[in-house]
Amino acid sequence: MAKILAGKRIIFGVTGSIAAFKVAGWVSHLAKEEALVSVIMTESAQRFIAPLTFAALSGEKVYGAMFADDMSEPMAHIDLAQAASLLVIAPASAQTIARLAHGMADDLLSTTVLATRAPIIVCPAMNSKMYLHQATQENITKLRNFGYIVVDPDSGMMACKDDGPGRLVEWDSAQEIILRCLSDKPFLGKKILITAGPTREAIDPARFLSNRSSGKMGYALARAAYRGGADVTLVSGPTTLECPYGVERIEVETAEEMYSTVMEKSREASIIIKSAAVSDFRPTEIHTQKVKKDNIKTSLELQANPDILFELGQQADRNDKILVGFAAESANIEKEARKKLTRKNLDFIAVNNIKEEGSGFGVDTNKITLIDAEDTIHLPHTSKEETARLILESVATILKNKTR
Ligand code: PMT
Repeated sequence: MAKILAGKRIIFGVTGSIAAFKVAGWVSHLAKEEALVSVIMTESAQRFIAPLTFAALSGEKVYGAMFADDMSEPMAHIDLAQAASLLVIAPASAQTIARLAHGMADDLLSTTVLATRAPIIVCPAMNSKMYLHQATQENITKLRNFGYIVVDPDSGMMACKDDGPGRLVEWDSAQEIILRCLSDKPFLGKKILITAGPTREAIDPARFLSNRSSGKMGYALARAAYRGGADVTLVSGPTTLECPYGVERIEVETAEEMYSTVMEKSREASIIIKSAAVSDFRPTEIHTQKVKKDNIKTSLELQANPDILFELGQQADRNDKILVGFAAESANIEKEARKKLTRKNLDFIAVNNIKEEGSGFGVDTNKITLIDAEDTIHLPHTSKEETARLILESVATILKNKTR
C-alpha cells in the first residue's frame, strides 16, 4: 500500500456531518502511508471538529476560508486543484452534495472541485431520510454523471437513532477505492476470476476433510486485481475473511461446487488465477447422521475430485485466456511445480514451499517462485499483499504482450 500512496497529494474535503470525527482516522492512515494530505474544511465541518486535529494528523496546513485574512494565498483553490492526485470529500453532507451538483463556487472546497482535473471521490454521510430524498438522489446522479465516484454509504443505526442508509462508509472500503484511483490499471475492462481458501468434503454432519488454507493469499490477489482496474469474481471456500470491497464473492464449500462455479464463471473471464487449496479427494459416502464412535471404521474410502485447473487448461478457448496456477509443495519444489505447469497447461505457476516458515498456509507472508516455460523468478519473502501485487505484475506483462 505504501508504494501506491507515497508522495501522492490528496486533497481531503471535510464537510458538516457528525461523521467528521471518523475521517480524522482516515487522514492519519493516509499520512502514515506517506501520502501528502491537504485538508479543506467547510465552515460547518469546523463546528464538528477542530482544524487543529487534522493539522496534527496530516502534518500539513489545514484550509478553511476561501481567502486568508492576510491574503497570503489568494489562489489557494487553483494551487490545491493543480497539485492534487486525488480529491476525497468525506463526509459529504447533503448540502455539499447539492452545491457540487449545481456547480456552486462559493467556498474553497467547491472552487477546488471545479478547478481540479484529478479524480474525485465523494463519500456521503447524513440522516437516511435526507439521503433517500429525491433531491439528494438526483444530485448524486448528477455527480456520477460528472464522473465523480460517489460511494454508497453504509446502512445501520445513525447518530439521530434513525436506521437506514447514510452512515459514512468504513475506512477499509474507502481505502480500497482510494488505492484503485491511484493505481495503474492494466486490467481495466478485464474480468479476472480468482479462487481462494480451502474446500470442505463432508464425512457426516459433524466432520469433514479439509486443509489449512485461510484464503489470505487469494483474497490479497482479489484486492490487488480490483486496484488494478479489474472486474473481479472471487470463488471462495469457507474462510473467516471479509469480502474485499468491489469484488463479487461466490461462496462454495466442496471441490465439486467450486468446479461447477468456476467452469460457469470462467466463460466470461479472460484471466483465471487458482490459488484455492482444493481437496483432491472426497469421502465416497457422506453419512446423513453423525457416525457413532463405536461404528466408525478406521479407514475412510475416498474418491477423486475433479481437477479444476486441469480442466480449465483443456478448454477449447484456452488460448484466449491467461491461466495461472498455484502449487503447494513440501519437497522437490521447482521440479514438482514444473510438472504441474506442463500437465495443467498454464501460463505460469506460483509455487510456495509450505514447510518454510512464513510461507504458504495461514500466515500473512509468502515466499513464492514464479515458473513459466522459460523462466524461474524468485519473489522476495514478503506480505501476501505485496506478493499478490507482484504476481499480478507478471499477469499484466503477459496481457500486454498478448494484446500487442
Ligand atoms: O490460503 P492461505 O492460507 O493464504 O494459503 C495460501 C496457499 C498455500 C493455499 C496458496 O499459496 C497455494 O499454494 N494454493 C494452492 C494450493 C494447492 O492446492 O496446491 P496443489 O499443488 O495441490 O494444486 C495445484 C493447483 O491445482 C492449484 O492451483 C489448485 O488450485 C489446483 N487444483 C488442485 C486440485 C484440484 N482438484 N483442482 C484444482 O484446481
